[in-house]
Amino acid sequence: MSNSMRQGAAPARYGAGAVAFHWTVAALIVFLGALGLLFDDIPKESRPFWINVHVCVGLMYFALVIARVAWRATHKAPDLPPDIDAFTRRSSAAVHHLLYVLMVLIPVVGIVARVWHGRPFDYGFFQLDFGVASNPAVYHPAETVHQLLAYALFALAGLHAAGALYHHFIRRDGVLMRMMPGGAG
Ligand code: HEM
Ligand code: HEM
Repeated sequence: MSNSMRQGAAPARYGAGAVAFHWTVAALIVFLGALGLLFDDIPKESRPFWINVHVCVGLMYFALVIARVAWRATHKAPDLPPDIDAFTRRSSAAVHHLLYVLMVLIPVVGIVARVWHGRPFDYGFFQLDFGVASNPAVYHPAETVHQLLAYALFALAGLHAAGALYHHFIRRDGVLMRMMPGGAG
């Protein structure tokens, strides 16, 4: 585990905090994405319930992602193995940056879609209601953009996971293990 700040030396592996954030956020993305893809197949009567689950869990996901970005800004990532070429380094950094952008942008647009539909976040024991009037000119395009960004995230995360498996099974360079809980660098 490492608490070294930006100015310190790069640690040998991702710290416990980064690992916990990575896998919790990934699991929530799979849950939210799968639920989102199912909306059209859910019977009309129960659809509002599941959309409410999606947005309520989504709001907690958003808070977690903000905490993750703040954590990342104050904790250094380990360097890639020295034999990895410059192009691969740049691609990896670009994919990670784009993943962060999508992880933040998708909930922002989702919140706009929910709030400008005039619908609250109903947690059961309390409701988060912004009191905005339903406005199709806002929520229609917001829903479309939210969906397209979600597809982009699925594609990029798939590429990213394929890259991780390539490191593990073909290159066998330990890059995947640095993001696994516990392991020794
Ligand atoms: C990474 C996280 C998320 C993913 C992958 C995701 C994915 C999706 C997908 C695939 C749909 C279905 C699109 C469609 O068929 O029209 C959807 C719908 C929606 N999502 Fe998300 N979503 C995420 C987070 C959020 C968050 C944080 C919110 C708001 C708090 C949100 C609000 C909505 C809304 C309002 C809809 C439209 C529901 C309706 O049809 O009325 N989503 N999402
Ligand atoms: C929704 C799914 C996922 C998202 C959004 C995601 C996102 C990210 C991000 C943003 C980073 C960069 C961490 C940083 O330096 O700040 C990262 C690193 C990493 N991820 Fe994922 N990830 C996902 C799924 C997976 C899966 C399924 C695997 C394994 C098969 C995986 C393996 C890794 C590994 C090994 C690293 C470290 C890469 C390195 O050492 O440079 N990720 N992930």
